Amino acid sequence: MKIKMCLLGVAVFAAATLNSGAADGAAVFTSKCASCHGADGKGATAMGKKLKCKDLTVTKPTEAQVVKAVKEGVKEGDKVHMKPIAGVSDDDAKAIAAYIKGLK
Ligand code: HEC
Repeated sequence: MKIKMCLLGVAVFAAATLNSGAADGAAVFTSKCASCHGADGKGATAMGKKLKCKDLTVTKPTEAQVVKAVKEGVKEGDKVHMKPIAGVSDDDAKAIAAYIKGLK
């Protein structure tokens, strides 16, 4: 009986891991965004300081804002602050938004 419960536990764990495998917000953020925004989202990188990245843990962008920033970039009038980021799907962007929400 004990062994059966244990096997069940492993199966549930494996299924949960597979299901969550679609988009890994932390991994995409680290590879595509952290060079400017910093791994902690605070923008304290050389690039982030140069481009005046705001602290994402302070501005707390919504999911819609993150998706828009990634797809369309961030502009103020004609001035481009951030270019659209290629190779990031909507699902990735949503996962990133959840990751940013969790940053402190
Ligand atoms: C080349 C540098 C660079 C990269 C790479 C980059 N950003 Fe940005 N991002 C900026 C700059 C500059 C701004 C404008 C200043 C600001 O609002 O922080 C900005 C603004 C934003 C904003 C609006 C912030 C706010 O709350 O006002 C979001 C959201 C954002 N970026 C998300 C992302 C995500 C997600 C990625 C990765 C997929 C990414 N950025 C990659 C430079 C970058």
